[in-house]
Amino acid sequence: MQRAEMKNLMIANWKMNKNAKEAASFVDRLVPLVKNSKNHEIIICPSFTLLSPVAEKIKNTCISLGAQNLFCESYGAYTGEVSPLMIKEAGCKYAIIGHSERRDYMCETDEMINKKLKAALDNNIIPILCIGESLKQRQDDNTKEVLESQLKNALKGINKQTAQKIIIAYEPLWAIGTGKTPTPVQIQETHLFIKEFLAREFGKTNKMPIIYGGSVCPENIREIMMQDAVSGVLVGNASLDPDKFARIVNY
Ligand code: PGA
Repeated sequence: MQRAEMKNLMIANWKMNKNAKEAASFVDRLVPLVKNSKNHEIIICPSFTLLSPVAEKIKNTCISLGAQNLFCESYGAYTGEVSPLMIKEAGCKYAIIGHSERRDYMCETDEMINKKLKAALDNNIIPILCIGESLKQRQDDNTKEVLESQLKNALKGINKQTAQKIIIAYEPLWAIGTGKTPTPVQIQETHLFIKEFLAREFGKTNKMPIIYGGSVCPENIREIMMQDAVSGVLVGNASLDPDKFARIVNY
């Protein structure tokens, strides 16, 4: 499990969208558009049923595969769940963990997210841990407390060395799917706050990347990536269109 360290991470989170045919034509269109983007690690996270066909399509391209979720056990009587071993076998190098939609609609708790994070790491899958505050929490000036508590709980029991493999995705809930984004200064400030937390917990020399997510689009990618604490982006809506996603990757 090796992540190209100096590369920016450009991650497409397709959420519950696309069928097999649409996924295949997306890859066919995207690959030639991004083939020169040597400074980025491009990752597509499709739904579970599309993992294997997308893995087949991206073979010998510059694109990697991620899942949108996983379960914390390897196998057993957990109807409807998908294990880290299964997504690994399907070709995944990465998995999104603790996305706010799962915290919200599927009632995922910090404790479950912590277990999933450890299960991913135990199975050589690079976790993309999502954290973020609601609009109310930001307005009440509670952003830092919320993020710190999400990070503390999710990362409980993970040692310094293992933590190096984790990617943190800062996704303010009020920016997801809304077309609203924090200002570049707010993004930089929040990322620096997360960076300081990680330095305290896992040492100053840790290189854990912090990426931003929430209404990223071709129009705002430049100013977001100009912030030096930002190591990439997690893109929902704008990642469904190969031309838009390519413009983001090639910003
Ligand atoms: P969005 O979603 O780009 O559509 O806001 C981002 C995400 O939920 O990861």
